[in-house]
Amino acid sequence: MKTINVGILGMGTVGSGVVKLLQDHAALLDRRVGARLRVRRIAETGTPRIAVDPKLLTTDAMEVINDPQVDIVVELIGGTSVARTLCLEAVQKGKHLVTANKALLAEHGLEIYQAAATKRVDLGFEASVCGAIPIIRSVREGLVANHIESIMGIVNGTTNYILTKMTETGQPFAEVLAEAQAKGYAEADPTLDVGGLDAAHKLQILASLAYNGYIRFSDIYIEGIQKVDAVDIAFARELGYRIKLLAIAKEDSGELEVRVHPTMIPDTHLLASVGGVYNAVHIRGDSAGSLMFSGRGAGQMPTASSVVADLVEIAHNIIFHRPSRVSLLPTGAMAEGVGLRPMERIRSRYYLRVMALDKPGVLSLVSGVLGENQISISSVIQKGRAEQAAVPVVMLTHEAVEGDMQKALKRINHLDAVAQDTVCIRVEGAED
Ligand SMILES: NC(=O)c1ccc[n+]([C@@H]2O[C@H](COP(=O)([O-])OP(=O)(O)OC[C@H]3O[C@@H](n4cnc5c(N)ncnc54)[C@H](OP(=O)(O)O)[C@@H]3O)[C@@H](O)[C@H]2O)c1
Repeated sequence: MKTINVGILGMGTVGSGVVKLLQDHAALLDRRVGARLRVRRIAETGTPRIAVDPKLLTTDAMEVINDPQVDIVVELIGGTSVARTLCLEAVQKGKHLVTANKALLAEHGLEIYQAAATKRVDLGFEASVCGAIPIIRSVREGLVANHIESIMGIVNGTTNYILTKMTETGQPFAEVLAEAQAKGYAEADPTLDVGGLDAAHKLQILASLAYNGYIRFSDIYIEGIQKVDAVDIAFARELGYRIKLLAIAKEDSGELEVRVHPTMIPDTHLLASVGGVYNAVHIRGDSAGSLMFSGRGAGQMPTASSVVADLVEIAHNIIFHRPSRVSLLPTGAMAEGVGLRPMERIRSRYYLRVMALDKPGVLSLVSGVLGENQISISSVIQKGRAEQAAVPVVMLTHEAVEGDMQKALKRINHLDAVAQDTVCIRVEGAED
């Protein structure tokens, strides 16, 4: 039986899961691969988290990359600087590459995809988006015959945990974040997660594959969940909606929207019931119709499961002398005629919470400003009465243009009768 040698860079959380999986499931994998998939070298600068043969270990990643026996290099260091250099080195040396590094691919993917295409090596990155969920393979292969109409995903477990907990308990954001940090569900510096950047990294990778062109990370509109207020979660529930951080890509009339922001979805929508740290992606293809994928979006073994799936696929390609699959990578610009739609031109329904002084005529002032900006209201609730104090006036609008909404909000927030900035949340998945 042939042996396929794997070199691992970084044996932290995911790296040690991969080593464990390759060891524990060696017999099963040997049968499925038709070859022995073995760890030949491991580079780790810290303390290895599981016991391995010390002869496998080095602190120098280049030793792994330069080992002529290593067929596939697995980058599990993270970050975008050292990892970028090492990935490019591995590809230049003709090694197949597997990575779980979404930040690296979202920010420097083009360079890495092009290098892999030039060197005709395989590149696997299933674990970079939604941990255990085989979403890359599904978009790249299972749905290859479809025009993808839309992708809407809960792709960050930390923010889904926080929003779920806020929904269940009514606690404020800061309190739930502190609890999530204490339980290890959120990092000490939570900015990447709560600021929406991690979700945007995954969207960049997924949408570039789905729409066959490299989307610049800087072109993605990103808004995090830091300003989501428990009050709005409660109003959303009353109206039959949930608030989720969604990563959205949609094609409409030759234009592509790519955005990450807190979003209200009807509580009957498939994504609404995905709670806790779980991830889910809802995809609509023109032939396949609606599909929903859900599962664990992170964690040691769920992520290792996807890394090993890539290793098995690449091992098959090596054994059967199949040419590499790089032709499926988004190495160029979007297809002719497809452009990105600027945020101010997207269309959405909106939830608004205006904190208005309880005086006669305020509602007509606000609706007047909306009307002047071509925005019509579909429903209004006013809660409580408080003389001379501000009370929440909650509105749902029909579909409107984002730029018109932003203009209207500026004017509404300047009205004397409006006590604080109006909360505005986009609504998806509901019929107008
Ligand atoms: N954790 C998850 O659930 C998850 C899920 C999906 C994707 N990912 C991605 O997977 C990658 C790895 O994440 P992780 O959670 O496993 O990170 P991690 O626990 O921090 O592991 C990274 C390991 O790499 C080591 N390292 C750093 N620089 C090195 C170098 N130059 N050479 C060799 N080893 C080096 C680190 O050692 P030190 O202790 O010395 O720093 C650490 O042990 C990241 O790109 C992450 O985004 C993670």
